[in-house]
Amino acid sequence: MTTLIINIKELLQVRKTSIAKVSGAEMAILPTLKNAYLVIKDNLIADFGTMDNLPETDADKTIDATGKMVLPSWCDSHTHIVYAGNREQEFVDRINGMTYEEIANRGGGILNSAKKLNESSEEEIYNQSKARLEEVMRLGTGAVEIKSGYGLTVDGELKMLRVIQRLAQNYPITIKATFLGAHAFPLEFATNHKGYIDLIINEMLPEIAKYKLANFIDAFCETGYFTVDETQQIMEAGIKFGLKPKIHVNQFNSIGGIQAGVKYNALSVDHLEVMTTEDIEALKNTETMPVALPSCSYFLSIPYTPAREMITAGLPLALATDYNPGSTPSGNMNFVVATACIKMKMTPEEAINAATINGAYAIGISETHGSITIGKKANLILTKPIPSYYQLPYAFGSNLIDTVLIEGEIFA
Ligand code: NIG
Ligand code: FE
Repeated sequence: MTTLIINIKELLQVRKTSIAKVSGAEMAILPTLKNAYLVIKDNLIADFGTMDNLPETDADKTIDATGKMVLPSWCDSHTHIVYAGNREQEFVDRINGMTYEEIANRGGGILNSAKKLNESSEEEIYNQSKARLEEVMRLGTGAVEIKSGYGLTVDGELKMLRVIQRLAQNYPITIKATFLGAHAFPLEFATNHKGYIDLIINEMLPEIAKYKLANFIDAFCETGYFTVDETQQIMEAGIKFGLKPKIHVNQFNSIGGIQAGVKYNALSVDHLEVMTTEDIEALKNTETMPVALPSCSYFLSIPYTPAREMITAGLPLALATDYNPGSTPSGNMNFVVATACIKMKMTPEEAINAATINGAYAIGISETHGSITIGKKANLILTKPIPSYYQLPYAFGSNLIDTVLIEGEIFA
């Protein structure tokens, strides 16, 4: 099956040779090709160029993209889209003055979602989660990481990971799974942290590894959740089972989680709303991708990741949604890109790089996703006719997506 896309107003994120990520000043450069064509063969990008060089092809299908932009689909490297029910009441409680912390302290927050998840059947959770997955695919996401972490019991965590596995089997989008048993301490372990960590390491991890249910290991390293020391124990155990760390750090406090992540060669450190100079320093010359989650900052009214300082320091940066029922009930990468420009002062070029190639790096798939490169997956966004790609962040509330292609097929 060969598909030919012609008359593309501008093809974005064109990379002749595959790159892993972009850092610092390189982030300001978004290579593009105007008046372009693109050939898709066997679900992969087979060729591209300018219309004056359009080759003769025996295309089965031709898509006319006059006036439209074509770009690689978003790589959302941090989500919790497998969950049960919602936390609308907590949202209203926060409007009425309670803080996220106060809600968690009264047994709400993550524990509230864990209760709902453990009371729901695997089928129910699958059905709710697949609706969210389809929604984000229509919004242009072509690769997604999904975490467990609302089970907090052996059964609950395995149930979540099986739902993620089933989504990966049933949908053409690339899905990576992260085990986040260390998301919060369940009530019965409130005064016995060691007991819960032992449960994660000795009971959950071996089962997860046995059934190959996860690619990555995560922990919520934060005051009131997992200490740096506990996070290190979790990362170390995960690594023994072949799971690379990707961790939640510096959401509310800077307690040394970044340094711990770097020490264990984490693929990414995520959140980073609160960053010290030492934290930025620790990330320099490492393989660890910093990931910002601006729609979480927006929803909780907490600081935004200091992107400018980080990019000026030469660091790379990825953008992801954090889609979850408590801190970010939205999986819209278009909104994330716009918010990064509006609130974090990232340029459109930087934000698009952060949401494509750097997002792909943060889930270990930049060899196959995140840019227009021959041989990469044909996971693409075709925009509506727009004057320039600046429109993507500028017209922040509009849906500018016309067509989404996943593995070369139109996803409707
Ligand atoms: O990434 N910060 C930790 N975990 C999630 C939110 C958890 C929740 O409130 O359900 C996050 O924001
Ligand atoms: Fe998260």
